[in-house]
Amino acid sequence: MPEIRDLTYVRFEIEDLDKQAQFLTDFGFEVSRKGDRLFARGYDSAPYIYIAEQAKGPARFQGMGFEALTQSELERIAAIGHVPIEEIDLPGGGLRARMVDPDGNEVDIVYGVSQASKLPPPSRSPINQENQERRANPRLGQRVSFTEASCSIKRLGHCVLNVTDFRISEAWYKERIGFITSDEIYIGTEDKTLGAFMRLDRGEEYVDHHTLFLVGAGHSEFNHAAFEVCHWDYIMQSHDFLAQQGYEQRWGVGKHVLGSQVFDYWKDPAGFTLEHFTDGDLFNRSFGSHKQPFENLLAVHWGPEGAP
Ligand SMILES: [Fe+2]
Repeated sequence: MPEIRDLTYVRFEIEDLDKQAQFLTDFGFEVSRKGDRLFARGYDSAPYIYIAEQAKGPARFQGMGFEALTQSELERIAAIGHVPIEEIDLPGGGLRARMVDPDGNEVDIVYGVSQASKLPPPSRSPINQENQERRANPRLGQRVSFTEASCSIKRLGHCVLNVTDFRISEAWYKERIGFITSDEIYIGTEDKTLGAFMRLDRGEEYVDHHTLFLVGAGHSEFNHAAFEVCHWDYIMQSHDFLAQQGYEQRWGVGKHVLGSQVFDYWKDPAGFTLEHFTDGDLFNRSFGSHKQPFENLLAVHWGPEGAP
């Protein structure tokens, strides 16, 4: 079984770090600045899930990092591309093999990064569902209440990349990360593949419907990165707050058919799309792989039609 725990961070070069730091804080991260780098974390224990460096030219997506569960897995993947294993000079230390994917994105495999203390997540009282036995309702006799916290994002969930050649990129990532296709998307007939939602292979363990979605767009471009948030109400609270701050919304609030996430997509000040999500599907190896028409890619259970 592949021994990749999860996607753990995305990296960018950003021209205006002050503006970006404000946006990231408003978006729900806990942000710290060290020299010409910004680190943003969630309330899970990863010391950073988003990194922005001072851009030397135009803003750009640099790449992403996956965490290996064992040093031997790091060594296996590094050996495929004959890349060195180096020490990481960032909070938490650890070891890293940095590779370049077929489109030039830097893909890190890391191992042994020291975890930070978890932060207290924001919470809300239980949902009053109509199908509960009235006596079993956990909110009897209580108003809805919320607790706020310094950080409302839990973790990095997935990344979506537009790629030059889907089959070449798919093979590259599957060999290294061991992805399983969840839903392959076709246009018109099943042999005309656009791309695929891919999930980690953790055997019987349940993982997100997709950790990486590669879109065969014929060119290379960062599409978006998605961060899981504390609860459903936060998506709605944050949606209004981000609009009041004057940020540019891309798509949402809605609920995807493929993956089932409640989503809300926003543009950061540098023009990159970042997503809030919650309530996504979780599958293990037994879910298998499926084919879906393009229409289902953009379909929503509810919410506006569109695309990020
Ligand atoms: Fe997404």
